[in-house]
Amino acid sequence: GLKVVTIGGGSSYTPELVEGFIKRYKELPVSELWLVDVEAGREKLEIVGNLAKRMIKKAGLDIDIHLTLDRREALKNADFVTTQLRVGLLDARIKDESIPLNHGVIGQETNGAGGLFKALRTVPVILDIVKDIQELCPNAWLINFTNPAGIITETVFRYTDFKNYIGLCNVPIGMKNGIAKEFEVDSKRIQMNFAGLNHMVYGLNVCLDGEDVTEEAIEKFTNSKITMQNIKAIDFNAEFIKALGVIPCPYHKYYYKTKEMLDDELQEFAKGKARGQVVKELEDQLFELYKDENLDIKPPQLEKRGGAYYSDAACNLISSIYNDKGDIQVVNTLNNGAIRNFKDDQTVEVSSIITKNGPKPLSIGYLPDSVDGLVRQIKSFELLAAKAAVYGDYEAALLALSTNPLIPSDDLAKTILDEMMEAHKEYLPQF
Ligand code: G6P
Ligand code: MN
Repeated sequence: GLKVVTIGGGSSYTPELVEGFIKRYKELPVSELWLVDVEAGREKLEIVGNLAKRMIKKAGLDIDIHLTLDRREALKNADFVTTQLRVGLLDARIKDESIPLNHGVIGQETNGAGGLFKALRTVPVILDIVKDIQELCPNAWLINFTNPAGIITETVFRYTDFKNYIGLCNVPIGMKNGIAKEFEVDSKRIQMNFAGLNHMVYGLNVCLDGEDVTEEAIEKFTNSKITMQNIKAIDFNAEFIKALGVIPCPYHKYYYKTKEMLDDELQEFAKGKARGQVVKELEDQLFELYKDENLDIKPPQLEKRGGAYYSDAACNLISSIYNDKGDIQVVNTLNNGAIRNFKDDQTVEVSSIITKNGPKPLSIGYLPDSVDGLVRQIKSFELLAAKAAVYGDYEAALLALSTNPLIPSDDLAKTILDEMMEAHKEYLPQF
């Protein structure tokens, strides 16, 4: 059977993943699931691990759940490794959100200053994990959900020689499901091609049963509330979207509606409700539920988190590699000419054919001029962030922030950078 190792196994999202493996057991016979966490996550690992065991038992399946703090022990002979860790836990996220907001700019865990610092904290850990995998299970696939997934992907391809890496996000699958809902059809009947960067991906077209319905889809999209739980459902301007001709993702609101999103974030922040603070409350409630010995399914309350469908994205990907399916899924991987706006050696989020050899991106051609500048500016940000994170390069970090469209001044970039460096210093060994 298959051995799967999940690093950050104590996450409140783990029941999603377990449910995904249960649903697909016939095509994806996982025999061992190792949930790995660090000392600070020991208690959560116990609680969520025991729920996982009850879920497996209820399903009557033969999957062994192992709980451990010993990552290297877990990785031996793994077939698939998934990463869903959060360095510094939610307290660090709350700092990523609140320090920028205190300076009047967007405070978001994967965009702007918050995104930079999440990368600076996470990259050293991911590089260590890659090293361990290369030593202990060199043929395993590493499927990374840890944010910022775009910068992590860029880092792994640029600064390591490990090739079996795939970055994954639930945004594309969420958008597709949202469009299917607008058409009132099962999402299996909808085909969409996606291209761009992580948390900056565009739906390029929409087909229903193979017939192009892009125009209608854009019309429906502008009248819909398609978003994610973690992103305020403020509408895009309908004429703007029609002119754009492609479907932006919910995270694009930080760039196309910066002012409205900032106003909203500041209001919530003033009430003590930065997203990390809301999530902390949600997590406390979730872990209370998880403790209940009678609970043996994924509780519906988990749907209040932004990670809806994440297990579908993950398990579909693992199954397509394992079963050499050759179907199309959206992943973060090396561009290699797929999207012509980007260089071959840069990484992108793009619809790809998934086989046992991993993803092969579809040839998308050029993204329209209207989005070319923005996506490439964010790619500059990602490249600088990756360099800063790998080498502890302060100048690269300053350039990353000053280059980011969410930071309106070089002086402010430096102020925020220095304050966040200090706030997060225990998690920044490279500086
Ligand atoms: C979406 C993103 C994830 C992100 C999550 C945050 O699902 O794709 O990358 O982690 O939202 O959700 P949360 O409930 O933690 O705010
Ligand atoms: Mn994501």
